Amino acid sequence: MLVQLETIQEAALAKLAGIDESTELQAWYRTTLGRKGQVAALARQVGSLRPEERPAFGKRLNQVKQALTAAYEERLQNVKLSEIQAKFTADALDVTLPGRPQPTGGLHIVTQILRQIYRIFGDMGFQIFRSPDVETDEYNFELLNFPPHHPAREMQDSFYTTQKDVIFRTHTSPGQVRDMRKYYPEPIRVILPGMCYRNEQVTTRSEMQFTQVEGLAVGNHITFADLKGTLTEFAKRLFGADRKTRFRASYFPFTEPSAEMDVTCFKCDAKGCQLCKYTGWLEILGCGMVHPTVLRNGGYDPMRHFGYAFGMGPERIAMLKYGIDDIRQFWASDLRFLQQF
Ligand code: PHE
Repeated sequence: MLVQLETIQEAALAKLAGIDESTELQAWYRTTLGRKGQVAALARQVGSLRPEERPAFGKRLNQVKQALTAAYEERLQNVKLSEIQAKFTADALDVTLPGRPQPTGGLHIVTQILRQIYRIFGDMGFQIFRSPDVETDEYNFELLNFPPHHPAREMQDSFYTTQKDVIFRTHTSPGQVRDMRKYYPEPIRVILPGMCYRNEQVTTRSEMQFTQVEGLAVGNHITFADLKGTLTEFAKRLFGADRKTRFRASYFPFTEPSAEMDVTCFKCDAKGCQLCKYTGWLEILGCGMVHPTVLRNGGYDPMRHFGYAFGMGPERIAMLKYGIDDIRQFWASDLRFLQQF
């Protein structure tokens, strides 16, 4: 039986050495060291030995059990380890793969310019006043001193709706009257931003829709000097502290006198370049003192109240700042254009 024991041990150890997988290892344990295994079976036969042989056999049996158990434990560790390693290799995380980019949105270029304008006028004490995109003929033209058949209407052909006299606003100026009617007799210092619409031949220089930022100040002592000072300061803050401005006489039905403001070219510093068409000046906005008729339409008394107004186009400002040569790009929703800003 001792010989049998040695044979079992040898065979079991040899088999164990070839096992590298845990179910097989468990099977090995069951058939070798388990309750119904080979070693137990042999132990049960101890009664068939002569009494004087039993202690030696018992001792050897225990040694073999210990040896097999130790070998089993060691094998178990190794198998577990290699199984974990195999799992890691199979489910490997390839850290060299490029990451998946998280798309982040961005602000439309015109929104960015608008926010710069809001900030500058906000710092100067102006508030934002919103007025509707859809207007009546009365607000868009008549109250702004464009009589029905006045030739100045030719400058701004609108889109008409099926409802009589309801049109898309052609400029933000109708907001002037809305704001005055709402806040009379308070002094006013507001900007009125928003989309405007004109029925125009679409070209690289003119679009059917575009944004404007209107400005309006009304009070007891407002003069043309305030208009010039405010807008010159604005131009310096938007285009650079070295900019100079000039005001050229112009015409709008709702301002008197009317002017257009130019700033010195920020690209060539007024030396003359393609951007300023070699004049050194860039035309930025229209402005003027609020016409007495418009003040009256807003509820103010033109003998006691004075005001100035101005209007500018953020697309035009963006075109000048970034050298954009086609105004149709702004609302064409082409990401190749929009993502550049
Ligand atoms: N509303 C004018 C335009 O669209 C601009 C303007 C606004 C001019 C306010 C003077 C004063 O052309």
